[in-house]
Order: sequence, then C-alpha cells, then structure tokens
Amino acid sequence: MGTIKDRADLDYAGLAFSYRKTDANLRYTWRDGKWDEGVETTSDSISLSIAATCLHYGQAVFEGLKVYEAKDGRILCFRIEENAKRLQHSAAKLMMQAPPVETFREAVHRIVRANARFLPPYGSGASLYIRPLLIGTGPRIGVKPADEYVFLVLATPVGPYFKQGFSPTKAIVEEEFDRAAPHGVGDAKAGGNYAAGMRATVRAREAGYGEALYLDSVEHRYIDELGAANFFGITQQKAYVTPKSPSILRSITNLSLRAIAADLGYTVEERPVPVDELEQFVEAGACGTAAVITPLESITVRGKEIVYLKDGKPGPHCTKLYETLTGIQYGDLPDRHGWTEGIDL
Ligand code: PLP
Ligand code: COI
Repeated sequence: MGTIKDRADLDYAGLAFSYRKTDANLRYTWRDGKWDEGVETTSDSISLSIAATCLHYGQAVFEGLKVYEAKDGRILCFRIEENAKRLQHSAAKLMMQAPPVETFREAVHRIVRANARFLPPYGSGASLYIRPLLIGTGPRIGVKPADEYVFLVLATPVGPYFKQGFSPTKAIVEEEFDRAAPHGVGDAKAGGNYAAGMRATVRAREAGYGEALYLDSVEHRYIDELGAANFFGITQQKAYVTPKSPSILRSITNLSLRAIAADLGYTVEERPVPVDELEQFVEAGACGTAAVITPLESITVRGKEIVYLKDGKPGPHCTKLYETLTGIQYGDLPDRHGWTEGIDL
C-alpha cells in the first residue's frame, strides 16, 4: 500500500488540465529490432535528429490514463491494458513499432513510483495524468517508417479538462471542418489528428463553446465525436446511445460507461447516430480520460441551440454515470469489472 511522503505542496483542488514538470520521465528506445530497458530522466527535454520522422512525417502517437489516490491510501490506475493495446493499434496504423503490453504496464508503475509525491490527494478532485508518447526518431528524408522509435512516458498532476470540471459545457456541431475520414487514422490516437482539429476547437472556444462536435466526413449526417472526447446521449426510454463510426477514437471511458450503464439498467446502443436525433436526447455528454464525463448544456447545430440543461446543472443521468465511474476510479465503489490496478511504491 502506498503512503505518499513529502507530497508536493500544490493547490491540487485548483489544478487545471495543464503540464507541470515533475521529478522524472521515462524513455525506452527501439533500435535494431528490440526495445531496451528504458531510462529514467530528470530533464524534460529531448535531443532529436533534425530528420526524425515524428517531426516531418507525423510518426507520433500517444495515450492518456489517470492514477488516483483512494481514501485508504491505495494508488489506483484505470485500465492500463486497454491503453497499452490502443497504443499498439495506433502504432500499427502509422507503421510504427509499439512496446509490448507488459513494458507499457511496467512503465506506468515506474513513472508513478518516480513521481509519487505529485499524486493529488484523495478528495481534491485531481489525479496524476500519465501521458505515454511514441515517436519515430530515426532520420528519414524520403517518406518511409523510421528505423528507431522512442517510447516516452511523463506524469503530471491535473484537474479537469473543461474549465468547470463536472459542470456543463456547450458544444457546437462543426460543419466546415472534418476531423477524420473513415479509412484514415481517426481511430488512432495520432498527434496529427489533434493538429487537424485545432482550427475547429479554437473557433468553437472563441465563440463561447467548450468544444466542437464533428460529423462523419462522408455525408455530414451522423455524429462522430468531440475534439478530445467521445459523445453519448441518453434517451427518455433510458438508453445510453453512442456513435459507431470507423473514424472515431475507441474511448476507454466510453467502453467503461457502456458497461456501467448496462449495470445500472440502461439499454446500450452503439450505432450511427443521425445529427437529427440530437433533439430527442434528454441528456448528452462528452466522455474521455481528460474530460471524464462533461455534461453538455446544449449543442448548437445549424444555427439552432438544442438545450439539454436549463438550470446549468448536470442532469440526473450524467450525475449517476459520473458518480459510478469516478467511484470505481477512486476506489470508493467495488470494482466489479476488474478495471483498476494497484500500484505499490
Ligand atoms: N476521442 C478523442 C479524440 C480523444 O482524444 C479522447 C481522449 O483520450 C477520447 C475520445 C476519449 O478516450 P479515452 O476515454 O480512452 O480517454
Ligand atoms: C485524454 O483524455 O487522455 C486525452 O488524450 C485528451 C487530450 C487530447 C487532452
């Protein structure tokens, strides 16, 4: 069981979702066909060839997962294996080498041990965010996969992704820009997808919305996802409805919420969700590791604002799902699905 000694003196409850340098980060290198043992480094800079493929040709994929302190002092990480497997999926799509699941798991334990004093205390609402990053570092001037890769892992304490935490935000359906195409890499957690989404996100924020909601890029008829989170809607008949689309990231939070919703007696529907159906939901939410569940106050589509929450407060469905998910993550509720893993210091 972990007891944090000399916890860093930070305003944990006031943390935003931003980067803060911590004590150490890890770097594993793939060279000559194999991964090394990884090294722990205190500097948060890297030295790269100016011809590295991550810089020129976007061979860069990443992950995001959170570590929580439980009331009794246990240190819990949520669904490491799913994140490890998704990194492999993302890497395969960009012709990159990915670390084995066991290396990924060991790296998460190791980065937490090295930065345990930054673990936000139970009750602060914050968590330790782990960001594994895989980059092509081998030099290439012609377009082809690198012959060397670095798997970097950093940890940084974070608060909520959307400014207000578990309180509603407004979304706007983006029609001018597409995020990803069906046979492209929208289902990979590739850095380039986020660069491609910045125009829409910046524009949405400037117009007073929390995030842009993308449509499928073929017909602009179905909901895809938000810039940094999946979408779900709740119907009057107590169905949890979430888009099935080849161009969205397979959110591990969404996977977990589907199981939780089923446990709570909801019908779970993963299917194409026509944009016209937005008006029929009684509640809607954004879900992801960083976003957790962010209830959507309203969604503006083609000039019309569909309002879900009139009093600015989260609705009962999102609240129940949020409390159950975070209850499991912080160890307050039984982990019936075996999603959390204890980390020993
Ligand atoms: N969709 C996108 C585009 C994301 O960046 C994220 C964040 O990771 C998600 C969905 C949610 O995925 P997860 O729940 O695995 O964090
Ligand atoms: C996460 O939720 O872990 C993410 O990676 C979203 C991020 C792009 C802010």
